[in-house]
Formats: sequence, C-alpha cells, structure tokens
Amino acid sequence: MSASTKETVTVTNNSTGKQVDFPLHSGTIGPKVMDIRSLYSQMDLFTYDPGFTSTGSCKSTITYIDGDEGVLLHRGYPIDQLAEHSDFMEVAYLLLKGELPNVKEKADFIKAITYHSMVHEQINFFYRGFRRDSHPMAVLCAVVGSMAAFYHDSIDIHLPKDRMIAQHRLIAKMPTIIAWAYKYALGQPFMYPKNSMGYSENFLHMMFATPCEEYKVSPILAKAMDRILILHADHEQNASTSTVRLAGSSGANPFACIAAGIASLWGPAHGGANEAVLAMLQEIGSIDHIPEYIKRAKDKDDNFRLMGFGHRVYKNYDPRAKIMQRTCKEVLDELDMHDDPLLKLAMELERIALSDEYFIEKKLYPNVDFYSGIIFRAMGIPTSMFTSLFALARTVGWVAQWNEMIEDTDQKIGRPRQLYMGAPKRDFVPLNKRP
Ligand code: SDX
Repeated sequence: MSASTKETVTVTNNSTGKQVDFPLHSGTIGPKVMDIRSLYSQMDLFTYDPGFTSTGSCKSTITYIDGDEGVLLHRGYPIDQLAEHSDFMEVAYLLLKGELPNVKEKADFIKAITYHSMVHEQINFFYRGFRRDSHPMAVLCAVVGSMAAFYHDSIDIHLPKDRMIAQHRLIAKMPTIIAWAYKYALGQPFMYPKNSMGYSENFLHMMFATPCEEYKVSPILAKAMDRILILHADHEQNASTSTVRLAGSSGANPFACIAAGIASLWGPAHGGANEAVLAMLQEIGSIDHIPEYIKRAKDKDDNFRLMGFGHRVYKNYDPRAKIMQRTCKEVLDELDMHDDPLLKLAMELERIALSDEYFIEKKLYPNVDFYSGIIFRAMGIPTSMFTSLFALARTVGWVAQWNEMIEDTDQKIGRPRQLYMGAPKRDFVPLNKRP
C-alpha cells in the first residue's frame, strides 16, 4: 500500500477542539483511503458505519469494482474479456496466483484440482443424516464444515503448502459435494467425478448422470456453466467474502471459514437472490401483473423488493448481468426454449423497471442474480440448488481472499466496536425486590 507521502486528512472534533491529521493511502485505481487505525487512541472516537458503506476493511490485489462505471476487474482483467476468452480453471488460477497461467501452469493446476475432486468415502454417510427435503445450502454448510474433520493434515494456516492444498481441496470437492446434495434429494445414487472431464462438464455429469446409462453433457451447456462460474467467482469484499475474512482472522481453519461464507451467501439479499428472483417471477406470473409489483417495490410500507435488482456498489448496470442475459438467450436457444415465458417476463420487467423514475433515481439495475435463475431452471436445476451453484463458483474467490488475508502483515483479528445505546451502569435487583 502506497502511503501517499504527506497527503493527510485533518479531523477536528469541534466539541473538544482536538485536531488530528490522518494519513491518506492511494491504491492502483479507485478512491483513496483515510487510515483511521489510530482514531480511537488519538481522539477517543469510533467511526460509525453499519453495513460498511464507506469502510475499507483491507487492502487487496484480487478484484476491483467501479460501481459508477459498471467495471469489474479480476487481477486487472475486465470480466467481459475473461468471460469471452478464458475458462473457469484459468480464472481460478488467476484469482489464486495473480497471473494467467501459461500452458504448463494451467495443465498442472487442472491436474491438481482434478485429483482432489473425490471426497473421503466417509463423507458419503453424512448425507444420510439429512431429510431428503433439506435445503442444499444447509447440507453444504454442514458438509464443508465437516471437511476439517477429514483433512486435518492440511490446516496449518501458517504453512503456504497447507494453505494451497486446502484451497485446491475446497475448489475441487465443491462440485462433488453439491452434486451429491442434489442426488440425495432425488433419492438417486451418487455419481463420482471423472478425471477425463473438465470442471464444469464433470459437475453437470455428477448432477444429471445415473449409473444406468451413458450420459453426454452438452458442450454448449458445459460452456455456459463454465462462463456462469467465471461471472460468480469473486466480487471484492461482499458480505460472504467479508465473513470468510473475519472468520479467518481468528485463525480458524479454511474449511470452517468457507462454511461461514456459505452461510452468509445463503441470505436472500446476497447469494440467495437468484432463488428469490425465480420465486418472484413465478409469483408475478404474467406481464400484465408487472405494474402492480413495480408499485409494491416502490412502496416503503411494503417489504417487497425487486429481487435481482439493485446493488451496494453498482449504481450502473452490473457488467455480469449483461453477460448473463446473453448466456441466458444462448442456453434457451440451445434447449429450444427461446419462447420461455419466464425469460420474456424477466426482460419486460427489466425494461419497465429501467424506465421507471424510482429505479432511475435510486440507480437500481439488474444484478448478477437477475438472469441466472432462468438459466439454471432451463438446465433442469431445481430452484433450491441455485444458491449452491453461486457457492460453487464463489469458493474460488473466498479461498483466494482468505489466503490474501493470511499473508497480509497488516491483518489482525477482526474486532469492530459499537455505539452503545443500552442501560447505564446499575446495581443488581434481587428477585423479591423486583416490581
Ligand atoms: C449479490 O456485494 C456484492 O458484491 C454482492 C454480489 C456478489 O457478487 O457478491 O454482487 C451478489 O448479492 C447481488 C445482490 C443480490 N440481491 C438482490 O438482488 C436483492 C434485492 N436487492 C436489494 O436487497 C439491495 O439492492 C441490495 C441488498 C442488493 C443492496 O442494498 P443496499 O446497498 O443496502 O441498498 P439499500 O437497501 O440501502 O437501497 C437503497 C435504496 C433504498 O431506498 P431508500 O431507503 O433509500 O428510500 O434503494 C431501494 C431501497 O429501498 N432498493 C430497492 C431495491 N434495492 C434497493 N427497492 C426496490 N427493489 C430493490 N431491489
């Protein structure tokens, strides 16, 4: 981090007259940060920023977002170029290592991931403890958290080699764990990963193949899934990534940290939105109902929100949403579903919302979740599995950010403070003296 020499921000406490200069730090691109680490010790003040709308929690070299311009860079590469020209394994390598792999590096990385894709056979028995109708995200939280019980040979977080093996294991085993959650819900036998298949092809094979016959994964759908994974891989310090970093700051093992990230992603305001978008579209039901729902989304007294719209950072079109819309059309064409009523409904909803004064004024645009559910549904993936697919992709970003946090000499255990609004000090009242 380049501390901009001499650049400072002066904070004056008008009630005490105390005045302190705080250093300004500049990054490669984006807003400068005011280093307030000594604010409390120098001014006896805390900052107040619930939701961290103006707070930088760390320095990072992984992902950069410009919300006003709708820009998303991974290690400097624009998301649209990666989605167009790269593949998920390359993007995973890029996020973990900082550079695109050469031919040998890519082959070695894919081999490492491929040969970690099986899970310990005992993990198989975990699933039997769940009801068949358990939400897949509940299963995912539990099974990923349990990995620490199986892979304790690679959780010394101070050893780079252990950290790398744990990262590879998490990326490699997530498709197997998620596909098995789906198979368990169906009551179908688990399919094992095939080392001859690519990452996305392998996942779709484990999801839809059965032992009874050969199953050929459509290359178009495998490519579409691979692109969707790229679009969901990482996104700066979002809620689930911040959860992983905070859990990791205590020294917790990587499997526990990723399980915590999965739990945070599950929320409908975050990764659970793709599932919520489909439920919303099905509730709206037809194009002539759209005005009623737009009205509800604008009504302060109605907690209905247009799911898949809005974003904490993007006040412009989410660049991922545009690529998702294009991918949605490609998948529906491949599946001969271009007349899919839900896609027509979604596109009309987007058209109407983007021309509505409320959405324009509040800069609410479709986000990455708006179209993903339509694609997943068309692929035959049940709504309850949508957020698990988000977690599948985001595992790469989570482990990359977790590793960066461990290696950052500035990092220490995360321990925010508060503005206390509770009762002042008072003495205990014995039971027989209470009113
Ligand atoms: C993801 O952080 C990330 O990077 C996340 C993510 C990633 O890749 O990790 O991009 C993935 O989580 C995408 C977001 C998915 N969530 C949804 O689609 C759920 C619907 N969206 C909203 O819940 C909301 O837009 C958030 C949670 C995404 C963002 O909320 P903020 O930044 O806290 O904004 P806000 O709630 O303060 O909204 C600002 C205003 C409010 O009105 P006022 O109080 O100022 O009058 O806009 C309104 C909100 O009421 N608003 C909406 C709305 N989103 C915001 N009104 C109607 N419909 C919406 N969707």
